Amino acid sequence: MSQKTFTVTNNATGQSEEFPVHEGTHGPDVVDIRTLYQKMGVFTYDPGFKSTASCESSITFIDGEEGTLLYRGYPIEQLAEKSNFLEVSYLIMYGELPTKAQYDHFVEMITHHSMVHESFRDFIKGFRPDAHPMSVMVGMVGAMSAFYHDSLDVTNPEHQEISAHRLIAKMPTIAAMAHKHTKGQPFVYPLNKLGYAENFLHMMYSVPAEDYEVDPLHARALDLILILHAEHEQNASTSTVRLAGSSGANPFAAASAGIGCLWGPAHGGANEAVLVMLEEIGDPKRIDEFVARAKDKEDPFRLMGFGHRVYKNYDPRAKIIRKMAIEIINKTEGNDPLLDIAMKLEEIALTDEYFVEKKLYPNVDFYSGIIYKALGIPTDMFTVIFAMGRMAGWMAQWDEMISDPKRVIGRPRQNYIGAARRNYMQMDKR
Ligand code: CMC
Repeated sequence: MSQKTFTVTNNATGQSEEFPVHEGTHGPDVVDIRTLYQKMGVFTYDPGFKSTASCESSITFIDGEEGTLLYRGYPIEQLAEKSNFLEVSYLIMYGELPTKAQYDHFVEMITHHSMVHESFRDFIKGFRPDAHPMSVMVGMVGAMSAFYHDSLDVTNPEHQEISAHRLIAKMPTIAAMAHKHTKGQPFVYPLNKLGYAENFLHMMYSVPAEDYEVDPLHARALDLILILHAEHEQNASTSTVRLAGSSGANPFAAASAGIGCLWGPAHGGANEAVLVMLEEIGDPKRIDEFVARAKDKEDPFRLMGFGHRVYKNYDPRAKIIRKMAIEIINKTEGNDPLLDIAMKLEEIALTDEYFVEKKLYPNVDFYSGIIYKALGIPTDMFTVIFAMGRMAGWMAQWDEMISDPKRVIGRPRQNYIGAARRNYMQMDKR
C-alpha cells in the first residue's frame, strides 16, 4: 500500500508540498509536519496542542467522543473490575498483563523499596507545618535524585527500571509523611505485609499510641482511584514529564516537574477545587446561583469537576468511580451536607441545557473528591493521591520517551509578537 500523504498549499506563493500521514492502531490519522518549516518556511500554531500529536505512544488510547479509555488495549472498565493498582502499573509499564511469577516479583520490588532514606525525615521537617503537601511532594520527589545516585544513568535500562520502581514504591510513604508533618504527628514506617493502598492508609492514619485497622472498603476505594488515575496519555503533567525528561534530566527531576504541573486547578488540582467549591456553595439552595455563575460569560467561575479537554462524552472513569462514590456515601456514618450538595449539583448540571450542549460531563475529579471527603482524607491531600496513581503512567511514558531511538529534546517554536528590532537607548535619553 502506498504511503498516505497530506498536501499543504501556500495560497500566497502557490507552493505545494506533500507530507506523510501516519496511521495509528486507533484514532485519527496524524500528518507528519516535521519538515514543514524546512520545506515551506512556516510554523504551525497550536498553543493548547488541540490538534497536535507530540509523540508516538503504545501505552494508552482515549476516544473522547465515544468515552473510551484503554490501557495497553485493555478497557478501563475491565481493569477497574478485575485488576488492582499494582497489576495495572505492571501492565502500563511493561505492556502486558503479568504472569503470576512476574506479578509476585513486581509486588516484591515495589514493597522492597517502600522505605525512604532516614534523612528524608529531617528534610521534610524543614518545611513549614502549614506547607501544602503538593509543595512538599514537588520538593521531596525532586530530592530523590540526591539520594539515589546509583540509578541516574538515563541510558541504562536497569537504572531506568529501578528508578521507576523506587518512585512508585516511595510515593505513598512520602505522601503520608507530608500529611503527618502538617498534623504534627510522628511519621509512620511502611508495613510491607499490607497492600499498596492499605499501606498508604496505614501510614496516613495510624499513630503509635493506638491500634489502627484499615477499613477494607476504604482500601478498595483508594485502589480503584489509583487504577483510574494511573495513566491518561499526553495530558499536561505527562507531557511535562516527557518534556522535562527529553533533555536527559533524571526521572526524579522529571517526575517532580510533573507533580508541579498536576497541582493546577485545571488539571489534578480540580479534585481539591471541587471540595472548595462545594464548601463555598454551602447549601443546596445556592446551587442554582453557582450554576448561573458558571454559565455567565462575564464571570470567570467554572463548575469544578465538570468538562474535559478530550472527553466530549461521559468520562469513562467518572462512570466507574461514581458507583464507588455512591457505595461509600451510603456507608458513611452521619449525613455530610457537602456530599448532598455534590449529588444535587451533578443532577442539575447533567440536565442543564448549557452543560448538555457543551458536553460538559462530570469528570473523574468530581467523584474522587467526594470519595476522599467521605474517607476523611484532608482536602489538601487529594491531588497528592492523584500524583501517587499517576506516577505509574509518568514512568511508563518517561521510559517510552527516553528509550525511543528517535528521541530529540522537546523544543517548541513560537509566533513572536513583541517589539520589532530596535536600538539600545542610553538611560538619560529614555
Ligand atoms: N464550567 C462552566 N463552563 C465550562 C466548564 C466548566 N467547568 N468547562 C468548560 N466550560 C465552557 C467554556 O467556558 C467554553 O465555553 P465557550 O465555548 O462558550 O467559550 C466551553 O465550555 C469549552 O471550554 P474550554 O475551556 O475551551 O475547554 P478546554 O478543553 O480547554 O478545557 C477543562 C477543559 C477541563 C480545562 C475545563 O472544562 C475546565 O476548566 N473544567 C473545570 C476544571 C476541571 O474539572 N478540571 C479537571 C479535568 S479532568 C482531570 C484532569 O485532567 O486532571
